[in-house]
Amino acid sequence: MFHVVDTSIFDRPTLDDLCDLTTVVRNLAKSPEGARDLQRLLPTKRAMLYFTQPSTRTFLSMNNACHVLGIRTSEIRDASVSSEVKGETFEDSIRTFSSYVDLIVMRTPDAGYAARAAALMDSIPRPVPIVNAGSGKDQHPTQALLDIYTLERSFENCGGIDGKVIGMMGDLKRGRTVRSLSRLMRHYERVKLVFIAPDGFEMEPDIKAFLTENAIPFTETGRLHDVLPDLDAIYVTRIQSEHDVDSESSGVNLAPFTIGAHELGLLKETAAVMHPLPRGPEIAVEVDQDPRAMYWRQERNGMWMRVALIATIFDLDQEIRELASRNS
Ligand code: NCD
Repeated sequence: MFHVVDTSIFDRPTLDDLCDLTTVVRNLAKSPEGARDLQRLLPTKRAMLYFTQPSTRTFLSMNNACHVLGIRTSEIRDASVSSEVKGETFEDSIRTFSSYVDLIVMRTPDAGYAARAAALMDSIPRPVPIVNAGSGKDQHPTQALLDIYTLERSFENCGGIDGKVIGMMGDLKRGRTVRSLSRLMRHYERVKLVFIAPDGFEMEPDIKAFLTENAIPFTETGRLHDVLPDLDAIYVTRIQSEHDVDSESSGVNLAPFTIGAHELGLLKETAAVMHPLPRGPEIAVEVDQDPRAMYWRQERNGMWMRVALIATIFDLDQEIRELASRNS
């Protein structure tokens, strides 16, 4: 593994290995000795976090995942303070960052930039890995990894993700998390997807074509209550109003696309309620107390999954497993 631009680089063995390594690092980090062992792995590496679109969780979890492994980080969180305002091209900026660091993690408001950065790296003498931390409306591969890990853990006593019915609700049209997660579903057996969206915010044709090509059954509905009892997981998303062209999200009635106490009553006892966060009104605060609420766990899982991913990029998976067996 070198660049992580989109979900296409993952296959089932890689996903299973990453989930397993995530559990290994989170357990290892529980003891001070284990945490110090992890920190000693990459103290000579440096990472650049280049985030020109707002981020709380992805930025903090990537930053702290680097620190868990001893990697030092620097950041640009606003293109207006980089030389791009002087007219430097995106490619020249990325090449410049790569002169100083060993890893670039990047988030951009538009799609395609992580792919451009990776293509540039592949053409220069000292390439560094590019990790996509969210590319416009298109992809969010590391979020999809932490979502897979959270789903697998939620279903660890009932066969994992295979065979499950997974609902995705909200702004499916412009939500990169549901787009990336849908793509990863092709690596799981007998999964069924149920898309629940307000009119005008349905899943885009490219993802639906991908699911059809990969024989993953999906249905689409605007009626949450009809499908809730069938779901093993419901992945809720907010309306991505930052992508509005013509205030199209201002008129949406979100009430029928919201999880509250009544909806919890319709859900299976074993179901998982997920959300990439930040949330809007689509998950009532009272849901937080329910044992099926998984979104705060997703946050924490995100840091450990990103540790596992970065460790894999730097070829440390075997070494970490050896550290863990010595520590136990
Ligand atoms: C998501 C994103 O940025 O796409 N947030 C995140 O990374 N956890 C979801 C969102 O902003 O709605």
